[in-house]
Parts: sequence; structure tokens; C-alpha cells
Amino acid sequence: MIHIDNVNSLPKAIDIIEVGPRDGLQNEQAVSTKSKIQLVDALSLSGLLHIETGAFVSPKYVPQMADSIDVFNGIKRSDHVVYSALTPNRKGLEAAIEANADSVAIFASASEGFSQRNINCSISESLNRFSDVIEVAEQYGIPVRGYISCVTDCPYDGKTDPKTVASLAKTLLDMGCYEVSLGDTIGTGTPNTIANMLDSVLGSVDPLSISAHFHDTYGQALANLYQALCMGVTKVDSSVAGLGGCPYARGASGNVATEDVLYMCKGLGIETGIDLKAVAQAGWEICKQLNKQPSSKVSWALYQQAHY
Ligand code: HMG
Ligand code: MG
Repeated sequence: MIHIDNVNSLPKAIDIIEVGPRDGLQNEQAVSTKSKIQLVDALSLSGLLHIETGAFVSPKYVPQMADSIDVFNGIKRSDHVVYSALTPNRKGLEAAIEANADSVAIFASASEGFSQRNINCSISESLNRFSDVIEVAEQYGIPVRGYISCVTDCPYDGKTDPKTVASLAKTLLDMGCYEVSLGDTIGTGTPNTIANMLDSVLGSVDPLSISAHFHDTYGQALANLYQALCMGVTKVDSSVAGLGGCPYARGASGNVATEDVLYMCKGLGIETGIDLKAVAQAGWEICKQLNKQPSSKVSWALYQQAHY
């Protein structure tokens, strides 16, 4: 019998943070507020416990998220689900408070080039803004998640030093973030570069405070995720139907598809508590609205099976 060492170090269960309504739809043109609400409502019934529902960012830069307040006001909330939003600054946080977001996320970059393009300031300036966000969020009892973009490569600055990611992850956690999501924003990482980066991060940070946020531009996201799981990561950001991208990372495709993660986890005996078919159905519905097809292979396979 073949002995596979890695299987022994895999977690028994993971948490999935569904980022499709935000990361997925921030990159799509003309999605109606109604369709967004329907998507979040469908995902709420699938067993997902955390749905990133919108972003309170400048509508001048990302008009796709300009109706986030209406999305938050329109959804049928489940008591079991955390509905969160991106908040780059105090103004965004105030909007999130008004929208009754359960949790918010600040988003930093490990590279100066992406920080400037994405949020119009340097990394150190962004940390100043974020400390203001964290301070006020704490007063309101709102948990703050941290993102770090470009953890292996940056579309503007090239390769990222793993030590920079490690130091920024520790800084965000020390500032008060309850968890840091590590973004392979342009999906260029491979299991070895992800392993090097995580090795550095996990030198000073508990793996339970880390989430993997891998885009699938080069088809590596699932392999990268498997690598991260083998190294003790138990939180995964994924996107229904593999939707997504970032307006400031041209050509980057969506996050690893939630359906693909669920299928892989089932095969590996990792609990998620999420109904794969319900997520796939939600993915097909929103893709119909977007006039495109899911990029999830698992979703396609399920569809073929059902229509054979
Ligand atoms: P700025 O221009 O430097 O901001 O933008 P400012 O403070 O100078 O304000 C300029 C104008 O924006 C003012 O309006 C503000 O009121 C307004 P005006 O007086 O000109 O009419 N403004 C806002 N409006 C609404 N909501 C706000 C807000 N803040 C200011 N929160 C800013 C700085 C950060 C606001 C801008 O650059 C921005 O909104 N960037 C967002 C970029 C974004 O959403 N990117 C995609 C998400 S990140 C991502 O996808 C990566 C991730 O998935 C992880 C990964 O994959 O790596 C998370
Ligand atoms: Mg992303």
C-alpha cells in the first residue's frame, strides 16, 4: 500500500470564507442588486458560515460594489452566518456599521506597487489608516480581518520576499486583526513558492490565524491550497463558481472555486459542513445572470451528471 505522509498532517475540518459576492462580483460589470441579494441568500442556505457580502470602497474606483449597502439591507440573514465587508478606511467602516456588517476586513499589500494602485497609499500609510479602523471597530465590537495581497508575486514589483509577508502578517495580528488572509492575488504561486512563503509566516504566526486566499489564474490554486492545508492552515477563502479577480491585477482570474474545494475536502475526509450541490446551484444561478459559465470543473461535472 502506498503511504502518503501528507495525509496525516491534514486538518480534520476547515472553515470556508465565501468571497464570491465580493471578490467575485467586484470584477463583473452590471450585476443587479437583486441578483447579488439572491446569490447571498442562496449561499446562506448552503451551510456556509461566513460570506463576504460587499465592500465599502470608493465607488469611483470600484463602482461594482457601490450598492453594498442595499445588498446588506436586502439579504435574509441567517443567525449562523457572518456577513462581512471590506473597509479600507474610516469612511468604509462607518458605512459597514450602518449596514450592520458582522465583521469587516482591511486589506494591505506585501508590495508597494500594488498598495499604491489598489488603495492609493504606501504600505506604512495603509497601516496608519487601518489602526484607525481597528480602533473604532473595537469600540463597536466588530471583529476585523486582515488581508495581505501579492504574497508571492506582484504584478508591478515582481517577486515578493516571504519575510515581508511574515512581518506584515504579524503586524496585522498585533494590531488587532483576528485572522490574516494571505492573497496570491494574481494566481502565479506554485506549491513550492506557497510553501516557502508559509514557512516564513508560520515562523512567527499561529497557523490557526491564517487563511489561504488563492486566485486560480494559472490553474494552481487547488494544488497550492493542498500545500497550505498540509502545513496546518485550516481556513480557506474561496469563491462560488470560481468568480473573481481584482480590478488592480489585470488578467487575474477568480479565487479557487468553492465547489472544487468542497469536492477535494470530501475526498480527503476533511469536514466543511457545506452542501456542495447547494453551492453549485447558487453558482449556476449567478452565472446565468452574468451570461457566463462557472469555471469550477466540479460544478461542470455535477451539471453533466444531472443532465445526462
Ligand atoms: P483615495 O482617493 O486616496 O481616497 O482612495 P481619499 O480619502 O483621498 O478620498 C477620495 C474620495 O473618495 C472622496 O470623495 C472620499 O469621500 C471618497 P470626493 O470628496 O472626491 O467625492 N472615499 C470613499 N467613498 C466611499 N467609500 C470609502 C471611501 N473612502 C474615500 N471607503 C481608497 C483611497 C482606499 C478609498 C480607494 O483607493 C479605494 O476605494 N480602493 C479600493 C480598491 C478595491 O476595492 N480593490 C479591490 C479589493 S482588494 C482585492 O481584491 C484583493 C483581495 O481580494 C486579496 C487578494 O486577492 O490579494 C482582498
Ligand atoms: Mg482576491
